[in-house]
Amino acid sequence: MRTIEWDSSRKFVMIIDQRSLPGRFERIPIRSAPKMIHAIKTMTIRGAPALGVATAFGMALAAFRCKTRDERSLAQAVIDIGIELMNVRPTAVNMRWAYQRIKSVCYIGFGSADKLRLAILTEAQNIADEDVQTNLAMAKYGSALIVDGDTIIHHCNTGALAAVEWGTALGCIRMAHEQGKRVHVLVDETRPLLQGSRLTAWELMQYRIPFEIICDGAAGYFLSNGKVQRVMFGADRVAANGDVANKIGTYPLALAAWTNKVPVISVCPSSSIDLTILDGKQIPIEQRDPDEVLRLSVDHQGIAPRDAKALNPAFDVTPNRYVDSIVTEKGVVKQPYGRNLLRILATEG
Ligand code: MRU
Repeated sequence: MRTIEWDSSRKFVMIIDQRSLPGRFERIPIRSAPKMIHAIKTMTIRGAPALGVATAFGMALAAFRCKTRDERSLAQAVIDIGIELMNVRPTAVNMRWAYQRIKSVCYIGFGSADKLRLAILTEAQNIADEDVQTNLAMAKYGSALIVDGDTIIHHCNTGALAAVEWGTALGCIRMAHEQGKRVHVLVDETRPLLQGSRLTAWELMQYRIPFEIICDGAAGYFLSNGKVQRVMFGADRVAANGDVANKIGTYPLALAAWTNKVPVISVCPSSSIDLTILDGKQIPIEQRDPDEVLRLSVDHQGIAPRDAKALNPAFDVTPNRYVDSIVTEKGVVKQPYGRNLLRILATEG
């Protein structure tokens, strides 16, 4: 089942509601672009590749809800909503990438508003279908880096829920498991919204992959006692020099892994690589509601003194020197990233 898909008979989008997992598995309709913006803001849908697809389908929703018969007005309305959509979560560059793909379609000129609507939907659907193929290709390359018997620390949720199907880092782990390799996962709970313990643990149970959940702060303990062979996570944006922006807590995890000589693997589609940004310092870091830190996400129960303040950056940047490999659908990239990312982006496939 796909995390996000277009319902062609009813012309709206169905998504898995990631706020209700693991307690309840529910698919909900998203009927308009403003509703998609809300779903992205509240992380009802989340994960960089899924957010790219949500942006594209959000623009398609805008195209079908806008009743104008004038092609140029329609194109402008869709582009305007695309800008709003991609700015909801500024770190995940897949949103800008998807916006640009749909924007290019808006500029072609089909001769009628209805033809443009169909072309936008086709492109959004292509982005969703390609995501599945891209993830499978990453899983093929990434699973080859996993050795029978590995214990892997995994951060955040990078599975099928974070994409259309399969996912990035978790997709590699799942493929290694399906190849018959014995893998064991230590799931970082991933504060503050617990994507690890709520979502990754839920997915691992579906795939019957053995795991334990650990507190984010426990990763150093496990890395230092020699029980972990690999650290794997995704990426929301990779700068031209290989610096990786990913869920908050990735940087200290990579640092602890590097110190303990455990290879760090970041898995992401080439659409997460942003060559317009030279290094990680230029990557915008989303700042979220402090309440996510001050209260337990699910039932909103307070876990800090009343009136306490909190800071809530959603992502951090791991300098490239701590990253052993970046796995993309085009292959595995190693240092020096400045040269090798450029090279891999220029390759076909
Ligand atoms: O805030 P989230 O849950 O959208 O953050 C997700 C991550 O950080 C993932 O690791 C990342 O999007 C890439 S993997 C699909």
